[in-house]
Formats: sequence, structure tokens, C-alpha cells
Amino acid sequence: MVDVRLRAVGKRFGDTVVLDGVDAHFDDGAFVVLVGSSGCGKSTLLRCIAGLEEVTAGTIEFGGHDVTHAAPRDRDVAMVFQSYALYPHMTVRDNLAFGLALRKTPREVVDARVQEVARMLSIEHLLDRHPRALSGGQRQRVAMGRAIVRRPAVFMFDEPLSNLDPGLRNQVRVEIRRLHDELGATSIYVTHDQVEAMTLADRLVVLDRGRVQQIGAPLEVYRRPANRFVAGFLGSPAMNFLRGHIARDGDALAVALGEGVQVPLAGAQVAALAPGREVELGIRPQDVVRDDDGPLALQVELVETLGSHVHVHGRIGAASFVAAFEGHQGPARGEVLRLRVTLPHVFDPASGVALR
Ligand SMILES: Nc1ncnc2c1ncn2[C@@H]1O[C@H](COP(=O)(O)OP(=O)(O)O)[C@@H](O)[C@H]1O
Ligand SMILES: [Mg+2]
Repeated sequence: MVDVRLRAVGKRFGDTVVLDGVDAHFDDGAFVVLVGSSGCGKSTLLRCIAGLEEVTAGTIEFGGHDVTHAAPRDRDVAMVFQSYALYPHMTVRDNLAFGLALRKTPREVVDARVQEVARMLSIEHLLDRHPRALSGGQRQRVAMGRAIVRRPAVFMFDEPLSNLDPGLRNQVRVEIRRLHDELGATSIYVTHDQVEAMTLADRLVVLDRGRVQQIGAPLEVYRRPANRFVAGFLGSPAMNFLRGHIARDGDALAVALGEGVQVPLAGAQVAALAPGREVELGIRPQDVVRDDDGPLALQVELVETLGSHVHVHGRIGAASFVAAFEGHQGPARGEVLRLRVTLPHVFDPASGVALR
């Protein structure tokens, strides 16, 4: 069992900078999720931590030991990839046992561990089958079993659910978290899927273009995004952004959006905000309520009914805007909804940094 520390980790391929000054600390036993859009450097960072790529700057420590230049086998990690890469000519049992047999583990130990892992993953009845006779979900379970059976200090997952059907993806996701809780080893999990990120992580690392944007508990990152990128990346539908400037609203402050529309800000948010300052107002679709005295007028263009929620798409002035409401009763197209904002976010329009 180890904690993992990254100090100023950088990686370039030729002139292309893929990771830039990544600093992070992951507690022993934590479930860490690296999340970001495709191409932002998630897999590269995971591979650097595993030792499959050599970093070009910075250091990596496992349990206080510098492993920056250690070979993967000396880091005691196991990886589960999107492609399962099972040995096709071997049974499930032999696929599970292979890594241990290579390490010259005694036969009885191998058999006992394979049985134990098969039980944990509910694949005991599949042990004598070959991979071609398994469903996608079963193969993925075997791939996880192959990692678990070695009892590594750190588990690494690179988009392990991407090849599964949506229903199965949800089911295996829950199983992965349950296994993590049972095994207690540090897990580092890469995904571009914000639902996986929010639900699995103890600690979320949001990456964009090779740089860490924010690290924190999922809810903390969701509720207090450090910048516009994080704010727009997490949450569904995505946060709305409206341009405006800071204005006085009696004793308090507000964001003025033009044509007399002002969205009040709560006291705690105002420290950095001088009246007149240009800002970008961020509003999650879920953070509005219908209120006849509310400042916003949403011109309804399209209503999506999801069963438990409705998404109302339309315009506020010239800007497009989405609101989400619980229930299944939506407004009609062409209606104008008055809205009050329950949780406004304010960003610097140039840097994107959250202002509070
Ligand atoms: N071996 C490599 N040589 C050159 N460029 C690479 C190599 N591996 C990854 N990259 C580049 O690094 C960037 C990040 O890739 P990757 O870490 O795979 O992103 P992600 O997993 O977030 O989708 C991409 O632009 C990719 O083209
Ligand atoms: Mg990747």
C-alpha cells in the first residue's frame, strides 16, 4: 500500500508538450480519477505513473520512494485497459494465473488466489472457458481479475468501460468501486466520462491540455469550480455562460446583463469584484427556479422530457440558455419563463479564473 506523489511532472514528445508541471498527491487507498477531454494527456500521465513512459521533467514517488526512473515491474502496479488483451488460447483460469505463474508463485497459492478473485468477480462458473466464449462484460471482469490477483500496491485503469454497452457500464462501474473498497489499494482511474468521474472518485483531478485545472473531492470541484473550463466540463447539461459586468444592487452587488437585467450575487462571492468589472456569469441549468419576480426571462424554444427531469432550451436575450427542472411537466414552446438564480458563478472573461 502506497501513497503517490507527483512533483512538476512534465512529458514532451519531441517539441510537443503533453504534460506540463503536474503536481499532485494521492493518499494511500484513495480512488483517484483523472478526467478531461480526449487528447488532454490522461493516458500519458497514467503511463508515466506506471513507468510505461519516461517523464521528461519532475519526479514521481511511491510511498516516499523516488520511482521516477524505476521499471514498471519495480513499481508494483497493475493496469486494466479499455482493450482487454486476454490471451485467446488460454482459459479464464490460466489468464488469471498467468502473471503469478511468471513470478514463480507456488501452485497452491496461485490456485487459492484465482479462486478468491473469481469469487469476488462472480466469474467462478467461467474459469474453464476461453475468452471468445465470453461476453464483453465478462471479458472486462477477467481483465480486472488478472490485475487483482497480483495484489498490487496501485491499480490503474485506462477508460476500462468504454467498450461496454451503457447498461453494463453502469453495473461494472459500481463493481469497480465495490472492489476498490474491498481491496483497499490505491486506484488511479482515467476517463473522459464525467459520470464515472463524479461517482467513482474520492479525489478528482481535472486536466486540460496537459495541465492540472483543479484537484479535489468531486462535489467540491462541482460546487466550487476553480475556472471556467472545470465549470463547463462537469455538469450535465453544461453550465450556461452570460457576459455582463458587476453593478451595485442596493447594498449588495449583482451582474448586469444589459437591458436592465441584473442577477444578484450573494455576499460571500463579492470580495474580488469592483463595480464596472467585466465578468462572465456562469449558471448551471439546475441552479435556476421559476419565480415570477425573477430577473431572467427565458424564451422557450425546445423542451426535452427525460422522465425524471425536463431540459428547457431557449434564449435569454441573444444568448442560448438551458434550464433543468425536476418532474415531467415542462413549459410549452414559445412560453417565456421568469427565472431566479440560486447559485451564480462569476469568472474573469480573459483568464477564466473563478472570482469569489
Ligand atoms: N508516443 C507519442 N508520440 C507523440 N505524441 C503522443 C504520443 N502519445 C501521446 N501523444 C500525444 O499526446 C497527447 C495526449 O495523448 P493522451 O495522453 O493519449 O490523451 P488522452 O488519454 O487524454 O486522450 C495527444 O495529443 C497525443 O497525440
Ligand atoms: Mg487516453
